[in-house]
Amino acid sequence: DDLEKLQRRPPVVTIMGHVDHGKTTLLDAIRKTKVAQGEAGGITQHIGAYHVDVEHEGQMQQVVFLDTPGHEAFTAMRARGARVTDIAILVVAADDGVRPQTIEAISHAKAAEVPIIVAINKVDKEEAQPDRVKQELTEYGLVPEEWGGDTVMVAVSAISGENLDTLLEMILLVSEVEDLYANPDRSARGTVIEAHLDKAKGPVATLLIQNGTLRVGDTIVAGSALGKVRAMVDDRGQRVKQADPSFAVEVLGLGDVPAAGDDFQVFDDEKEARSVASDKTDEQRQSRLLQAMSSRRV
Ligand code: GTP
Ligand code: NA
Ligand code: MG
Repeated sequence: DDLEKLQRRPPVVTIMGHVDHGKTTLLDAIRKTKVAQGEAGGITQHIGAYHVDVEHEGQMQQVVFLDTPGHEAFTAMRARGARVTDIAILVVAADDGVRPQTIEAISHAKAAEVPIIVAINKVDKEEAQPDRVKQELTEYGLVPEEWGGDTVMVAVSAISGENLDTLLEMILLVSEVEDLYANPDRSARGTVIEAHLDKAKGPVATLLIQNGTLRVGDTIVAGSALGKVRAMVDDRGQRVKQADPSFAVEVLGLGDVPAAGDDFQVFDDEKEARSVASDKTDEQRQSRLLQAMSSRRV
């Protein structure tokens, strides 16, 4: 029954790579907006989720991008990004080459069995050495197609815009051969991308819908947080009444702040939701207790 209702959904694409290699600037250029400049110190603090319309063979297609921080403190976040994604874009600065977070991103993407497209960025710079980057990447099992391997590598510049259309084309080509289906008729489930407590709005969670459709008024459990969706805001700051498969929205109405990486699910039955949430709270208490006991033993 579920099978016949399956519809194609947009690809979820995670941008990964070493700190300052140009992930956010590249995404900005793709979105033609100015996110990187607005960030504190130009450092991506959290995973941002953005929807982009791309024209492909005369048709508009949607792609959902997740930006991730390259700072070494955010390993768990990048692992999470790799897990929820359909395609990983590995950004490597052509003037800096393969660096620790590049290697880490490769291993996250491989562990999640996600196809990798390499964007060799900053090729506008005089110091750029794209062939050296390709050579370095072969040491980690990524061999460019033009050298007989099977990894798509595109030399781009987020500043000049060079080859960005090729990169988008490659994203769409790779996503075409993937099984990206979801059933928009079922109740939503997915993953918490990030969450925080806002003084005025209360708990705010960015949710990635992986199946089903999320609607205002839905009863949800996210991690151990229970709530009713009071309002939803998309990446452009617009209020929306529903969110379709692959989309990410900011949700208000949870009674508590879930952890990034937690699953969320909609329940038709409020009583069931309440019992699931309290079970999960017990689970968390249990694991905190175990942690406390093991640290005392040391
Ligand atoms: P984190 O989120 O902190 O990991 O960094 P990031 O990878 O998102 O890099 P970001 O977009 O913040 O860019 C870092 C710096 O590189 C900025 O000063 C950008 O202007 C610059 N930059 C990014 N892309 C290019 C490019 O294609 N060419 C040149 N010349 N500079 C670039
Ligand atoms: Na940066
Ligand atoms: Mg960034």
